[in-house]
Amino acid sequence: MALLPILEFPDTRLRIRAKPVEHFDAQLRQLIADMVETMYAAPGVGLAGTQVNVHRHIFVMDTSAEKNDPQAYINTEILERDEIQVAEEGCLSVPTIFEPIRRATRVRVRARDADGALFERELTGLAAVCVQHEMDHLAGKLFVDYLTALKRERIRRRLEKERRERGGSASSSSPRSAEPAL
Ligand code: NI
Repeated sequence: MALLPILEFPDTRLRIRAKPVEHFDAQLRQLIADMVETMYAAPGVGLAGTQVNVHRHIFVMDTSAEKNDPQAYINTEILERDEIQVAEEGCLSVPTIFEPIRRATRVRVRARDADGALFERELTGLAAVCVQHEMDHLAGKLFVDYLTALKRERIRRRLEKERRERGGSASSSSPRSAEPAL
């Protein structure tokens, strides 16, 4: 397995829309294993292909407290959304930034697993928020897009300053919030 580099805002590759996965093969299983490892190491509870520069419709997530329930969602559709709430949200591609975002806290999704088998599932709470956040990534959208242009620009400048200060290396030394990054 391998850790994959995570793209960071405002990298324009985060704006590429993912294409459907067509082949459910060993290469896909390897990608899922690498994405899960990268997500745990970050640490985060969700990671979309877009964030690791793989523009296929796939994300992984694990919202369990024990971090022992990694799941892959492939070619996912959100069928229903319900119960809109505002909650603090963070993103591995926008490190150290947490902002209140409006999301449904109940969703019904249809997706395929690593073997290509179709499943439907109802998700609530953090898992529901995570699915919407990862689906945004796959559409080339970031949670900072929901903020004002002024706030987004302020975040961009702050991240650039932090990257300069740590000499362009990965964000492993960033301060961590109690909130999970998606
Ligand atoms: Ni994210």
